[in-house]
Amino acid sequence: MRQEIVPIHSFECLTNEILELTFTSDYLASVAKPGQFINIRVDNNFPLLRRPFSIFNIDGNKISIVFNVIGTGTRVLAKKRKGDTIDILGPCGNDFLTFANGEYDTAIFVGGGIGVAPFPFLTKHFPSDKKITTYLGARHKELIVTKGLKNVNISTDDGSDGFHGTVLDLVKDDFKKHDYGKTRFFICGPTRMMKAVAEFANNRNSDCYASLETDMACGIGLCQGCNIETNGGTKKYALVCKEGTIFETRTVKLQ
Ligand SMILES: Cc1cc2nc3c(=O)[nH]c(=O)nc-3n(C[C@H](O)[C@H](O)[C@H](O)COP(=O)(O)OP(=O)(O)OC[C@H]3O[C@@H](n4cnc5c(N)ncnc54)[C@H](O)[C@@H]3O)c2cc1C
Ligand code: FES
Repeated sequence: MRQEIVPIHSFECLTNEILELTFTSDYLASVAKPGQFINIRVDNNFPLLRRPFSIFNIDGNKISIVFNVIGTGTRVLAKKRKGDTIDILGPCGNDFLTFANGEYDTAIFVGGGIGVAPFPFLTKHFPSDKKITTYLGARHKELIVTKGLKNVNISTDDGSDGFHGTVLDLVKDDFKKHDYGKTRFFICGPTRMMKAVAEFANNRNSDCYASLETDMACGIGLCQGCNIETNGGTKKYALVCKEGTIFETRTVKLQ
């Protein structure tokens, strides 16, 4: 993991609400794996704390993240322009590919809202002997990003795109129609959604690996601010930023 000041290469609007920011880093491009995140200090003065962002794609030495403007950090980030620099720390956390090999037929990717972010990079590098089916859920169509994904099924809460309802309802509906063989789930999004999808997956005896998005201060295992309670084992708590962000959902309490 390194801290670097890197130049912004480009900005693209993927929808009216989602921005893709691309910067260059030879180091990060050579070591980062799908599911890992970077911690960005968006400004020298304010806000002081870094903000974590999943790696959305790597192409050569170009790395991109996606975000929608939510608060202070993303507002500052959205005002950056090509040629400006950002201060990044990464790659942080574990990666999805560690959990990709095994005895199953179809990888089920489920992204809620901006939780879609790690999946294009994961899709690109997923073991080629596995089929991939992707489910995306969001409040409305401007929050849906399909770039770089395979076999995408969409749900929106307001019915503006795809299935009208939650992403879990979409998954349940689709699983009645298709036989995906033995499945393994890889999920990212709001905790409530991940808890529900993990229950569905575990009830069908599928392993489910969730990338957790707890609030983070340091992002590198120093402040103890991102603890999550485990389901037994040798430790009562785990640090999401360092021991995760990806956990098998039976091993942690999602709440
Ligand atoms: C491992 C990890 C990976 C992440 N990857 C991405 C990513 O790829 N793209 C991305 O856009 N964001 C991602 N996030 C969330 C991101 O780090 C920021 O928290 C988020 O963008 C808001 O930052 P902000 O400074 O704009 O908002 P803040 O000023 O920090 O917050 C403003 C308000 O929004 C609320 N809020 C903060 N975050 C969220 C959220 N995620 N959903 C709903 N409300 C929220 C806060 O509680 C507060 O009320 C990730 C978080 C983690 C932990
Ligand atoms: S965010 Fe500081 S230990 Fe995880």
